[in-house]
Amino acid sequence: MKILITGGAGFIGSHVVRLFVTKYPEYQIYNLDELTYAGNLENVKDIEHSSNYTFLKADINDAEKMVNLFKKYNFDKVIHLAAESHVDRSITDPLAFVRTNVIGTINLLNAAKDHWKDDLENKLFYHISTDEVYGTLGETGLFTETTAYDPNSPYSASKASSDHFVRAYGETYGLPFIISNCSNNYGPNQFPEKLIPLFFNNIISNKALPVYGDGKYTRDWLYVIDHAHAIDLVFHKGENKSTYNIGGFNEWQNLDLIKLLCEIMDKRLGRAKGESAKLITYVKDRPGHDKRYAIDATKINTELGWKPSVTFEEGLEKTVDWYLENPEWLKNVTSGKYQEYYDKQYV
Ligand code: NAD
Ligand code: TYD
Repeated sequence: MKILITGGAGFIGSHVVRLFVTKYPEYQIYNLDELTYAGNLENVKDIEHSSNYTFLKADINDAEKMVNLFKKYNFDKVIHLAAESHVDRSITDPLAFVRTNVIGTINLLNAAKDHWKDDLENKLFYHISTDEVYGTLGETGLFTETTAYDPNSPYSASKASSDHFVRAYGETYGLPFIISNCSNNYGPNQFPEKLIPLFFNNIISNKALPVYGDGKYTRDWLYVIDHAHAIDLVFHKGENKSTYNIGGFNEWQNLDLIKLLCEIMDKRLGRAKGESAKLITYVKDRPGHDKRYAIDATKINTELGWKPSVTFEEGLEKTVDWYLENPEWLKNVTSGKYQEYYDKQYV
């Protein structure tokens, strides 16, 4: 089986690529990534010489290139993760999200549809999406697979649009597809623009921790390797034309999560209890900030037998340890353009 994985140099994609390359030596894995600011080949360095692994540097916005790559490598299945993924960046540059998340996805769908048109047997377009397409929840309730789409940010609107196109290609052209919508991921290799690695980086550098609004926003956190295992299961056992919600059964208000992270960091850095939490600073809220996300993961649990393998406390400690053990990784990704982004966003 020849599997095209897009976005495999990014955070979640790199864990999916590693899992597939190491668990399935009989599959050929093609990691296609444009290496934007968020893509980093260091994330897959340990498997780069594997005989079943090929890296393809390419932009999914280049429609012709997608067609040519399908012709050249004859992919059987696609796991599509490449995307612009950060809500704050989508607020300052929505078009970049339309280009990659919507048009880039359509380019891949067209290439797959045309290449597979004579034989759809054993083909699959597996699209990785987010719970943010469902919009926001009040104090109660959970997102299920049938919750109506109601996106609030340019990021979630672009992901919702791409989900609709994937489904439409399934209905209109018979393209075999699956979509999974996952909650917030955390873990090793996450770019320090998202909450947990950004706050880790600021705590070790004794910089302010910029909490948006009152900090009472809720997210449902999942350890990235648990997400990769869920993707493996859905890819192999999921039903054509289905959606699966993936979540950690693990809701945290931002402030509580930040305090837990600060406590772990105090211990790891030998600081007095409460020292890191003194860095907490309340800043202007994110426009259109979704109040609460929470996933009902019953379907993937009962139909495919998936559940998270680590508790949040265990996962967060593993994550902190990974960042502490990989200071070079963090140094490399925060040099250069990162500072420009940071100053624009926070100063
Ligand atoms: P990421 O930003 O860490 O990685 C995205 C990767 O895509 C990078 O390697 C980047 O170089 C690549 N890429 C971006 N534009 C590209 C283009 N035009 N052509 C080719 N490659 C391009 O993102 P992530 O957090 O790993 O998210 C991966 C996927 O999972 C995304 O589709 C995202 O919407 C979805 N998702 C993320 C989360 C989360 O919490 N991070 C949760 C649910 C779903
Ligand atoms: P983030 O990691 O950007 O993920 P998402 O917006 O996709 O959920 O943010 C997680 C939560 O943390 C969200 O409620 C926004 C908040 N947040 C802050 O309070 N300060 C920050 O600097 C960042 C990046 C996020």
